[in-house]
Amino acid sequence: MGALFAAAGATLVEHIGVAGLDVLDVATGTGNTARAAARAGARRVVGVDATPALLAEATRRSVADGTEIEWQEGDMEDLALADASFDRVLSSFGAMFATDQHHMAAELERVCRPGGRVGLTAWAVVSARFPSPEAAVELFETRAAPIMAAQRRSRPSVAGTTPGPPWSGCSARR
Ligand SMILES: C[S@@+](CC[C@H](N)C(=O)[O-])C[C@H]1O[C@@H](n2cnc3c(N)ncnc32)[C@H](O)[C@@H]1O
Repeated sequence: MGALFAAAGATLVEHIGVAGLDVLDVATGTGNTARAAARAGARRVVGVDATPALLAEATRRSVADGTEIEWQEGDMEDLALADASFDRVLSSFGAMFATDQHHMAAELERVCRPGGRVGLTAWAVVSARFPSPEAAVELFETRAAPIMAAQRRSRPSVAGTTPGPPWSGCSARR
């Protein structure tokens, strides 16, 4: 499983591009995605996670491989980070665990600079609708991305949001 997470984080970093940029890895765990970003030439990398033991392991691994990362204990739904402070806000198999998906999404957007990009990975049930990763990406780009863009234009206040559906519920509804 660890190798799969590492490969997914590296793929996310490769696809979104991080060279010379400030990168946040939310729910970093043992730092797979953060360390991939540092190796790919990010200018500054911050990894946030709620679990101190995982951050300790992340620290050990970054010391071992010589990557420079600022590790921070924190909650992805209440980040102790300034507005618009990152060019790339990433979360690999992490944001999907937020108890309030709307709140989490608002936080990721808050810390992302204008023109920056948020990149997530999440697992989904393989089905006729999601026969391959490529099909899932196509479905996201044609169906979900336009809806998310519309939601950004009429962003609700965080205080007024209600919990979003669980990720499994999203795919089950299709
Ligand atoms: C499946 S692991 C993924 C770890 C890492 N992103 C990776 O790909 O290896 C999920 C991570 O989410 C973290 N997490 C869960 N809820 C969180 C929250 N509210 N705020 C920050 N981190 C959280 C857990 O501590 C765990 O490290």
